[in-house]
Amino acid sequence: MQNILVTGGAGFIGSNFIRYLLHSGSAIQLVNLDALTYAGSLKNLTLIASDARYTFVHGNICDSALVPHLLRQHKIDTVVHFAAESHVDRSIHNPGQFITTNVVGTQTLLDACRQVWLEEKTVPLAEVRFHHVSTDEVYGTLKPNDPAFSEATPYAPNSPYAASKASSDHLVRAYHHTYGLPVTVTNCSNNYGPYQFPEKLIPLIILNALAGKPLPVYGDGQQIRDWLYVEDHCEAIRLVLARGRIGETYNIGGNNQPSNLEIVRQLCGLLDQLVPHSMPHESLIRFVADRPGHDRRYAIDLTKIQTELGWQPRESLTTGLRKTVEWYLSNPGWIETIQRQNNYQQWVQNNYQQRGGTS
Ligand code: NAD
Ligand code: TYD
Repeated sequence: MQNILVTGGAGFIGSNFIRYLLHSGSAIQLVNLDALTYAGSLKNLTLIASDARYTFVHGNICDSALVPHLLRQHKIDTVVHFAAESHVDRSIHNPGQFITTNVVGTQTLLDACRQVWLEEKTVPLAEVRFHHVSTDEVYGTLKPNDPAFSEATPYAPNSPYAASKASSDHLVRAYHHTYGLPVTVTNCSNNYGPYQFPEKLIPLIILNALAGKPLPVYGDGQQIRDWLYVEDHCEAIRLVLARGRIGETYNIGGNNQPSNLEIVRQLCGLLDQLVPHSMPHESLIRFVADRPGHDRRYAIDLTKIQTELGWQPRESLTTGLRKTVEWYLSNPGWIETIQRQNNYQQWVQNNYQQRGGTS
């Protein structure tokens, strides 16, 4: 791995991954291709923007001229594909954009790799890799006593987001099977940590609590997610790139399954300690209309990545949530910019007013 193309590197996980790779001292060249949608911001990359190993390209993964050009120009040997529309609630409002980016965009990248790596052979085949970053949501929902998702769990995506990611996973698999493109796929659970856009549960709750606004909990709040601190995800991806078997899928998760309400309460408890208020932050919790088709429970079986690659999460939920809250408290400038840009207030209005007016 020498010349890496990261897609979606101005988003939450992609920007953490770029920082992680560059800070780990790797002798690499890294190109970040990002369209800077509402979810992407160069503010996420200020710490590494002037690193001589780093190049930013403002462009779209659906651009079928640009992508092969970048592969040739930078002699790319490794693609790490994060770029996506990533928010389930937005996929319910506007599914079309998810098909364009997540399905057509992924196919455009795969086709460019096929052309440049397999036909033009710009880099020896033994040195190339297409790594696709995907989600546990492709597996659908679990009942209380169902076993956790393994790599053999059948796909059963329930939201337009999950369906578009499942579709992209299938395309990656097909390009490996049909053309011999060297691929790996990771299906990861819910991430949290620094630089997460505040439309997702954890940053939304932190920022609303700090502003004294209602904390919206969908339905009864008993939905269960497996939460992973973002740096642990980055480390897992790096291991899969280094030692993962070609054509294989690896599940990644945090080995914890709290309910959403428990997560919100933990965040309130942390905020009560770190920014004490006259009222406990929990008093801001409001139960609001549920998400249509809301998956009830996710859980990840980590056996494969643990036994094959020796990976396991370093952060517990307790340590990871504390780090996350502390990061948001230490970065008011980032929060202000992100909330001012990107139609954030408009989204909050659209999503929450219809659920019972918590915006
Ligand atoms: P994000 O929404 O924070 O960032 C997505 C990034 O992709 C943004 O920088 C955006 O500008 C860019 N982008 C969107 N469309 C693009 C296009 N057409 N061309 C180029 N760039 C484009 O997403 P995230 O939370 O960082 O997720 C990254 C990846 O990880 C996604 O593929 C997502 O499905 C997957 N994933 C996310 C989670 C999670 O909890 N966030 C969990 C598992 C897997
Ligand atoms: P989210 O962060 O959107 O991630 P995902 O839908 O990919 O799991 O949501 C995490 C959980 O929190 C999910 O069960 C929906 C719930 N949720 C709320 O209860 N309130 C909210 O305001 C949001 C954004 C999410």
